Amino acid sequence: MEHILVTGGTGFIGSHTVVELLRSGYDVTILDNLSNSEASVVDAIEQIAGRRPALIVADLLDAAAVNAAFDGAHFDGVIHFAGLKAVGESVQKPWWYYHNNLTGSLNLFDAMAKHGCKTIVFSSSATVYGPDNPSPYVETMSTSATNPYGWTKVMIERILTDYTAAHPDFCAVLLRYFNPIGAHPSGLLGDDPNGIPNNLMPYVARVAAGQLPKLTVFGDDYDTPDGTCLRDYLHVVDLAKGHLSALEYAKDHTGAEAFNLGTGNGISVLELINAFMKENHIDVPYVIGPRRDGDLPGFWANADKAKEVLGWTAKLDVNDMCRDAWTFIQTPKD
Ligand code: NAD
Ligand code: UD1
Repeated sequence: MEHILVTGGTGFIGSHTVVELLRSGYDVTILDNLSNSEASVVDAIEQIAGRRPALIVADLLDAAAVNAAFDGAHFDGVIHFAGLKAVGESVQKPWWYYHNNLTGSLNLFDAMAKHGCKTIVFSSSATVYGPDNPSPYVETMSTSATNPYGWTKVMIERILTDYTAAHPDFCAVLLRYFNPIGAHPSGLLGDDPNGIPNNLMPYVARVAAGQLPKLTVFGDDYDTPDGTCLRDYLHVVDLAKGHLSALEYAKDHTGAEAFNLGTGNGISVLELINAFMKENHIDVPYVIGPRRDGDLPGFWANADKAKEVLGWTAKLDVNDMCRDAWTFIQTPKD
């Protein structure tokens, strides 16, 4: 049985991925500093998967603690989710984003190298395609970024690519996520940001639940079919399964390889709101407001490479995403 270290495993995408790993027979140890998640997520994971992952509460910035995790167990591979992810905050606190995401990753890679761990699956983002590439985005396109968060993803991809060039027995799978939304259908795991959400789906769900008065749609004057921005939303459970495909791939490949994980379809803000209202039979009051600085009119994946090479495609549709996000927000939290 293989043992996987999952950094950031109590977070939104990490927790869903740990469920899928446990269900597929992997042993899992989570390393997380709980800066954006709760230890109780492990209970929810156990309830769903019927098995409990180990949890090490530690910070990737603490190199000794990261090495101690590798001293304490043999890991066959690492899935690296841990990082800070708020674009606006990264513009306000660039040093903190570079330090947390880059130093934390370097400490992890160093411990892997010292302990002979040669497989990593890294959480990258569609944001690495920068502002100028046309959609659909293809993995061969150039990478760049418009904010410190995005640059950390570009840089970590570069570091892993250079490391694999120097160490030909190492495998780094760079997964470029599009817009993961939804929640576990049990209602026990989901996207539960602290404070007022930045992202669309958690905001929609809180308005529907009466926790926020109304949604502001950021601009309806884009050059898109209904004037609102297009995004490639994918269900977080589909995304989680993509990590298992990536681990399978790493068993007989070396080198660094990037894959888009998206559906390949762009849908608009208004389409998503309407789907949520129809699927859940609930009103989501909204107003049209000004554009949000930094938003791109539309981007979506070319998802062919993940299908052909990893054998992965997104199976769940926008109605599943809306239903599960609504179930999650209605499920009482301890
Ligand atoms: P999340 O914030 O829910 O999970 C990240 C986890 O990492 C949290 O549990 C947090 O406590 C932990 N963490 C942060 N810094 C740490 C550190 N220094 N040491 C140990 N633990 C630390 O975020 P998520 O949405 O699950 O995203 C996971 C990864 O996927 C992130 O790297 C993010 O940048 C990337 N990503 C997310 C999205 C998205 O839409 N959610 C899109 C593209 C890429
Ligand atoms: C944002 C990040 C991106 C990150 C992604 C997932 C920015 C510029 N980009 O992408 O790097 O990978 O989150 O975490 O922040 N919207 C509204 N009203 C709202 C919230 C959002 O109309 O209250 C619209 C936005 O204008 C956008 C769409 O909904 O068109 C999706 O927004 P969001 O969920 O924040 O994701 P992205 O902007 O695509």
